[in-house]
Amino acid sequence: MNFSFTEEQLAVQHVAREFAQKQLLPGVIERDEHQIFPAEQIKALAALGFMGMMTSPEYGGSGMDTISYVLAIEEISKVEPAVSVCMSVNNSLVCWGIEKFGTESQKKKYLTQLASGQIIGAFCLSEPEAGSDATSLRTTAIDKGDHYLLNGTKNWITNGSSASVYIVIAQTHPEKGYKGINAFIVEKNWKGVVVGKKENKMGIRASDTHAIMFNDVRVPKENRIGAEGFGFSFAMQTLNGGRIGIASQALGIASGAFELSHQYAQQRTAFGKKLCEHQAIQFKLADMATKTNAARLMCLKAAYLKDAGKDFVAAAAQAKLYASTVAMETTIEAVQIHGGYGYVKEFHVERLMRDAKITQIYEGTSEIQKIVIARELYKK
Ligand code: CAA
Repeated sequence: MNFSFTEEQLAVQHVAREFAQKQLLPGVIERDEHQIFPAEQIKALAALGFMGMMTSPEYGGSGMDTISYVLAIEEISKVEPAVSVCMSVNNSLVCWGIEKFGTESQKKKYLTQLASGQIIGAFCLSEPEAGSDATSLRTTAIDKGDHYLLNGTKNWITNGSSASVYIVIAQTHPEKGYKGINAFIVEKNWKGVVVGKKENKMGIRASDTHAIMFNDVRVPKENRIGAEGFGFSFAMQTLNGGRIGIASQALGIASGAFELSHQYAQQRTAFGKKLCEHQAIQFKLADMATKTNAARLMCLKAAYLKDAGKDFVAAAAQAKLYASTVAMETTIEAVQIHGGYGYVKEFHVERLMRDAKITQIYEGTSEIQKIVIARELYKK
C-alpha cells in the first residue's frame, strides 16, 4: 500500500488551498449571509481547470485523477462548501455522465464547454414528491417522433439559475417503471424552461438552489443520453461517483472545523491556561482529528478504486455516510470549543455547522447510503 501522494496531486492540493484561503475566505461570510452566488470565484476555479478536473483534455477537461479531485474539494470545502457543491455537481454529475455515456456530438457540443467551465451544468432528478424514491418520477418525456415533450417540476436543483445546461431525468413509459425512464440534456434557454424560486436555505446559502419547471419543452431525440430506458441506470451510476465529491465536501467541512478549533484552542486562555491544555478540550480535538482522518482515508480509498477501474459503489456510499456524520459531529464540537464566539458568524464554525447538515441529505440521505451499502453486501 502506498499512502503518499504524487507531485501532481500535491500541487493540486496546494493550488486549491491557496485559492480557498486567498480568493474564497475574504467574502465568504457576506456571500453566506446575503445568498450571493460566487460567480467570479467559479470563473477563477474554471481557469484553474477545476470545473472539469477528471474530464479528458480532448473535451476541455484537465484529465486529472479522482484522488486529486478529493484533495481539491477538501481544501475548498474547508472554507466555502457553497463553492465546492457547484464544482462537485459540474464535475461528477454532469461532466462525468456526459463523458461516460454521451454521444460524440453531445460531448463536442456540451461537454467541452462544461468541462472548461465556460458554462455550468445542473442535475435534475429530485421532484416535489420524489426525493429518495427516485423511481417514482412524475416528470414526463413523451415520445413525439423526432423529439420528446418534457413536462414537470424538479426541486432543490443545485446551480439551478447559474446553469446553462440541465441533465433531466424523466419518465417516458410509466408502465415500464424505472425501465421507462430516460435522461436528457436540456438547455436553459429553450422555450418552456422556467427557473422557479430560489430556496432560502439553512446552509450552503451562496449556492443557488432552485425549482425548475419544464412546460411542453421540445427535446430533440439526439439529446437523450444512452439508449431508450437507460435513464435510471444513468442516474444511479452518476450518483455513485457523485458521492465521492459530496463525501470529500463533508470531509473538508470537518477538517476546516477541526483546523479552526485547533488554532483557537492555542490562542484562547481560560482558568489560567490555554484551552488546548485542558483535558476536556484535548479529548474533543483528539476525537475530531481521528474521525476526520478516518473520513479522509475512506474518501481516498473510494477515489483510488474508481481510478483503478474497480467497483467503488460501496466504498463511495460508505465514505459519504461516514464523512457526512463526521462533518456534523465535528462542526458541533467546533462551535462548543469556540463557546460564545462559535455562535457568531466571524469565527466561521457556525456556518460550517449549518453547511454540514446538507451533506447528510443530498445525493442520497444517510439512510439511502445504508440501502446502497446493504445492496452491495448481498450482491452476487
Ligand atoms: N448503482 C447502479 N445501479 C443501481 C444502483 C447503484 N447504486 N442502485 C440501483 N441500481 C439499479 C439496479 O441495479 C436496478 O437495475 P436492474 O434491474 O437493471 O438491475 C435498478 O437500479 C433499480 O434498483 P432498485 O430496485 O434497488 O431501486 P430502488 O427503487 O429500490 O432504489 C435507491 C434504489 C438506491 C434507493 C435509489 O432510488 C437511490 O439512489 N435514491 C436516492 C436518489 C438520490 O441520491 N437523489 C439525490 C438527488 S441528486 C442531488 O442531490 C444533486 C445535487 O443537487 C447535489
